[in-house]
Amino acid sequence: MDRRERAAGDVAPPSPIRPKLTIPAIRAAKGASPLVMVTAYDAPTARLASEAGVDLLLVGDSVGTAVLGYESTVPVTLDDIVHHCRAVRRGAPDGHVVADLPFMSYQVSDEQAVTSAGRLLKEGGADSVKLEGGHRMAARVAAITAAGIPVMGHVGLTPQTAGSLGGLKVQGRDVAGARAVLHDAEAIAAAGAFSIVVEVVPAELGRLITARVPVPTIGIGAGAACDGQVLVAPDLLGLTEGHVPRFVQSYADLATATREAFAAYAREVRDRTYPAARHTYAMKPEVLAALQDDDVSSAP
Ligand code: KIV
Repeated sequence: MDRRERAAGDVAPPSPIRPKLTIPAIRAAKGASPLVMVTAYDAPTARLASEAGVDLLLVGDSVGTAVLGYESTVPVTLDDIVHHCRAVRRGAPDGHVVADLPFMSYQVSDEQAVTSAGRLLKEGGADSVKLEGGHRMAARVAAITAAGIPVMGHVGLTPQTAGSLGGLKVQGRDVAGARAVLHDAEAIAAAGAFSIVVEVVPAELGRLITARVPVPTIGIGAGAACDGQVLVAPDLLGLTEGHVPRFVQSYADLATATREAFAAYAREVRDRTYPAARHTYAMKPEVLAALQDDDVSSAP
């Protein structure tokens, strides 16, 4: 029995696709039902996540480490995000797609930030953009928002600038650090962000930020009190091997399943059990007979 036959037998039908979440609907989710966001970098993942009822698809710059094989998100370009965003949009035409502004696509000036964000909507088909940074990025958030482009903020651990933060570490552990992250979240919300990702801070700080800002917080390693949660899709699918941060919950083991599937394919090709008769196309007997009767020496 192959995968499709098995799937037809024992997998529940996908839940109906819900209407696209608008910015007012996302804002209204504050303190209500938790928002569910996952990263997506390709059309099939976007389609499956949408069919499963995920609210927001993030074309994160984590594409750099999760898919493109980089050591960090720093090398990811705006063209990379546009490319993956287009795929995600094709896979989930009705999903709310948030596209990440990658490193150095918005830090230089407000003009650069607006131009880059505009490309993500016009060329990538995104509904909104996300950028990393606290109060120092408030002017960028305001400029992009003023151009009519909804912005999601991202405070706490900001991987693009992990070097200046001393690595991929928990942020806001002491009083000064916690005040700084709180201040960052408030500044970004005041600048017009419709939602804020809060990454890797103590759960108590996640709760405080969520209580202080008027827009939904979406946590990743920031505790259960946030207004929503986000995970990197390959992490939650169990495709990431080696070290994973403690906040990651894997809901499947696709690394093992994928390796086993490739190994089974290789085995069946080598022992000639694949392709089987059902995978092949037949030729009409008279065509075969004519070919067999051909005089090889008279071939053109
Ligand atoms: O790029 C990304 O995947 C992100 C999430 C971790 C929030 O920014």
